Amino acid sequence: MSGATETSLTCARCGKPANLQCPKCVELKLPCEGAAFCTQDCFKASWSSHKSIHQKAKLSCENDTGAEQNSVAPNDWLYCTRKGQSRTPKLPIFDWTGTLKPYPISKPRLVPAHIDKPDWAIDGTPKIEPSSDLQRVVEIKTPEQIERMRETCRIAREVLDAAARVIRPGVTTDEIDAVVHEATIAAGGYPSPLNYYFFPKSCCTSVNEVICHGIPDARKLEDGDIVNVDVTVYFKGVHGDLNETFFVGTVDEASRQLVQCTYECLEKAIAIVKPGVRFREIGEIINRHALMSGLSVVKSYCGHGIGELFHCAPNIPHYARNKMVGIMKPGQTFTIEPMINAGNWRDRMWPDGWTAVTADGKRSAQFEHTLLVTETGVEVLTARLPTSPDMFPWLKS
Ligand code: MF3
Ligand code: CO
Ligand code: CO
Repeated sequence: MSGATETSLTCARCGKPANLQCPKCVELKLPCEGAAFCTQDCFKASWSSHKSIHQKAKLSCENDTGAEQNSVAPNDWLYCTRKGQSRTPKLPIFDWTGTLKPYPISKPRLVPAHIDKPDWAIDGTPKIEPSSDLQRVVEIKTPEQIERMRETCRIAREVLDAAARVIRPGVTTDEIDAVVHEATIAAGGYPSPLNYYFFPKSCCTSVNEVICHGIPDARKLEDGDIVNVDVTVYFKGVHGDLNETFFVGTVDEASRQLVQCTYECLEKAIAIVKPGVRFREIGEIINRHALMSGLSVVKSYCGHGIGELFHCAPNIPHYARNKMVGIMKPGQTFTIEPMINAGNWRDRMWPDGWTAVTADGKRSAQFEHTLLVTETGVEVLTARLPTSPDMFPWLKS
């Protein structure tokens, strides 16, 4: 028996506090719950029944390498719970709205010491952001801030493009997260989502009925899926935020139309951005185009101001008849990121406290850009580059 590091464990036989662990379970990296015992006596008394879990673990490991690969993750991968603050080896009980379910997530990814980090990187709690005046007043960026935003947004675009290039059936969303994480660090940036209010990964990956904030996990993308990858980079003290929804293999016609319409909603909204336009007009434009295609607009998640803060004023609702006050002025930077549903607009939250899904289990798509209001109109800071991969049939010439 080896001494356990945690004191909160209870004996698998009698339920008393336990600080001994079965060495075989440790070797097999099995969850500590079920491997902990209070005394050698309890361990010995349990042995005849306990040892079977070693055999089971070995068998499921062998199955892992087999052809049917979407069921079992390595056993140090766990399900996320409590808004990113806890993990569990068992799939939480929940009335899943569609066919998608969460998979276990990998261990935390590390960021080298030389990378400049936002204030939530260490303990999961943003400190400057929630109490800033910039939650109510919309900042006018200086030319120097704007130049840094341009640089950061360009990096964010290149990181998203790197993620887009690896998307195909069989790739896990965790592997996409690894690409985002490594590409961000290679550019000298920090992946803003990582540990933001305890979000456990470096980007959001939202599959099928997931509206937004999906957590990269062990699930392999399947032919016919749609997947949104949302990347935010922190570099030179500012954030750049964008996302796109990609096709995995061949998708059905309804999903193709959903994704194309969502792309068009963002394009049409960007087209009206210029000084003097009301922020609330963005929702009218998006709603009109979505409704026209028989689709609905998500209300619970909005675009946002961005800069030295990840999320700040203005709040940008994407739906019609919103009560957002204020007009656009040169030097403001904000995102537009419409989420459009195939069915109704209602959303639900998974037990991980992050993943927003459609209440009816039908699919949802999203596109996002970070924008700068200029004297005459708009600059799309996260615009596609000549090197960006050709992912969207409607953009092909
Ligand atoms: N990038 C998302 C947005 O567009 C925010 C993700 S926050 C996270 O605003 F914590 F979920 F990563
Ligand atoms: Co955003
Ligand atoms: Co985003």
